[in-house]
Amino acid sequence: MSRFAVVHAGQLVTLRGRAGARPGPEMDELSIIEDGAMIVADGQIEAVGTTDELSAQLPEDVSDAGGRLVTPGLIDAHTHAVFGGCRANEFEMRCGGFGYQEIAEVGGGIRSSMRSTRAATEDELFELGRQRVQRFFDLGTTTIECKSGYGLTFDDELKMLRVMRRLDDETPMTVVPTLLAAHAIPPEFEGNREAYVNLICDEIIPAVVRRGLAKYVDAFCEDRYFTADEVLKIATTAQKYDLELRLHVDQLTNGGGAALAAELGAKTADHLEQTDEDGIRALAGSKTMPVLLPASVFMLGLDKYPDARRMIDGGLPVVLATDFNPGSSPTQSLPFVMTLACLKMGMSPAEALTACTVNAAASLDLAHDRGTLEAGKRADFAVWEAEDYREIPYWAATVRPHSVYVRGQKVG
Ligand code: NIG
Ligand code: FE
Repeated sequence: MSRFAVVHAGQLVTLRGRAGARPGPEMDELSIIEDGAMIVADGQIEAVGTTDELSAQLPEDVSDAGGRLVTPGLIDAHTHAVFGGCRANEFEMRCGGFGYQEIAEVGGGIRSSMRSTRAATEDELFELGRQRVQRFFDLGTTTIECKSGYGLTFDDELKMLRVMRRLDDETPMTVVPTLLAAHAIPPEFEGNREAYVNLICDEIIPAVVRRGLAKYVDAFCEDRYFTADEVLKIATTAQKYDLELRLHVDQLTNGGGAALAAELGAKTADHLEQTDEDGIRALAGSKTMPVLLPASVFMLGLDKYPDARRMIDGGLPVVLATDFNPGSSPTQSLPFVMTLACLKMGMSPAEALTACTVNAAASLDLAHDRGTLEAGKRADFAVWEAEDYREIPYWAATVRPHSVYVRGQKVG
């Protein structure tokens, strides 16, 4: 049995005792152990306590954290991390004053990434994905959710999902796959959107279920993308096949998407920039968790952030994620997302850390084995070049982990 310990963590942020997402003020409680220590055995946490408390049971292999901060590995519950190409040209256009929609209308946007993703082979996408997985580790992230949605044909959507499965199998990263065939209407179906929705419901979802390629189904509920009725049809088909929902709602316009997600009993409602009080009330009365993506607001040069404060004060277990994608959010950094959440959305550093660890784990149905540092959980953790958890959002765009572990193995 392999056994090692980390000792002298300036702060060991455990979040322990949190079975999963807890709403409201509890998001501020981190359960920090000062001068903390943790024993890892066979990839699992055996014990946590102060260095003093664990001193009698320490194994031979001991690594001294030298007063550094130790947290659970960060969990990114909303990414589009498999794609071909790069859209730096669109970034430049936005700098010149063009909007996200305007860029989409001249052939950019999701369809631009669709073209590059279709053109890429499965091996090429895997290689790009592998490099991105390493960058996630280097930024402290040890589990990601990942969406398809740049293929938009039967074959290309399945190709993207197979790449995710390979990344999950062949790297130490957990990649939770979500089918997002309803990301945009592909050009072949322009003028016949109904046929594309039927293709998703009648062919893509059943094939994905048969092959066990996705855990969730998503749809982009938005003006010029998918209507609430189309989303309803796709969502109820997914539920018929026992797939849970994560939905892109109320990002650019308020289409009542939060209430729709709540009504459908979706696992998550993501974005919510335009969600009003009624939408927040609908979420508060449901099991649907809000997933907020401030980096996409920032990188689109917009200034309307989701109302995290009202959500948390209303008892909602807020999750933060990067929305990493080549268009609206070209960043893999959850620490950067935390900085934005604190400064632009009124979240405290403790709430921000809770939102991308234990709450994110709960939103992916993974809270039983990760998201906190306590005995019995996976030894997925980050040792930071910092002493205090508040430094993660504070050293803006700068803070880095010293080292990152997945199941007790060093990955970054
Ligand atoms: O979550 N809103 C839809 N999807 C992505 C953007 C995708 C893209 O621009 O490529 C998002 O922001
Ligand atoms: Fe997204």
